[in-house]
Amino acid sequence: MDKLPQIIAYATAKLKNDKTGHGLDHLTRVAQNAKLLLKEEPQADTFIVLAACWLHDTIDEKLTDPKQAQSQLKAFLKQIGLTEAQIQAILAIITQMSFTRNLNGRQKLSLEGQLVQDADWLDAIGAIGCVRAIYYGGAHRETIYDPKIKPRTNLTKEAYRQLEDETIINHFYEKLLKIADMLNTQAAKELAQKRQKFMLAFLEEFKNEWNGLS
Ligand code: ADP
Ligand code: NI
Repeated sequence: MDKLPQIIAYATAKLKNDKTGHGLDHLTRVAQNAKLLLKEEPQADTFIVLAACWLHDTIDEKLTDPKQAQSQLKAFLKQIGLTEAQIQAILAIITQMSFTRNLNGRQKLSLEGQLVQDADWLDAIGAIGCVRAIYYGGAHRETIYDPKIKPRTNLTKEAYRQLEDETIINHFYEKLLKIADMLNTQAAKELAQKRQKFMLAFLEEFKNEWNGLS
């Protein structure tokens, strides 16, 4: 656990200027969510969970060259004295946990990985999730809403990143509303209930206002 401050400093250096919803506020909330989930899963390795929370977006292919970022991260973790097993445990989590990595079939994750994935996915839903989707959509110049464009089904990773046919509202149907059923732990599923209801209410109100009904 004494290595965590150095890990937080590494993630901070990498992501402090992020303006796509993967910045320090996101990492802080993911770590905070993970601490809640850890209370229900005391057998999980707290250090691995928290380290992976802080590092999970430092190798994201949307934000950086993943191969280069991974070798730099490995070298850093070795340099601060993590064991080979700890490095492997962290890398296995952060390379397998993303929504896109799990689009065409679920990847097997360790218990620690399941907690980190849940903690990250909880931060993609609810009120925070609404703001992050709108923020990300703005950053990528997505259309806000177009009732003629239907949400896409059976998305491949390539299609998921193809934003010409995407709308911010469709992203709720293509990803955000699906998350509650994809969470690993009971504790996360319970936390997701309220967030799911909030998103459904938001979408209903949005469409009513769009259609001049409210
Ligand atoms: P992952 O890193 O797990 O693959 P994403 O990159 O899909 O996850 O999502 C990271 C954040 O960006 C999430 O909050 C997500 O909702 C948002 N996001 C991703 N794609 C879109 C999109 N096409 N439109 C709006 N928001 C998006
Ligand atoms: Ni994340």
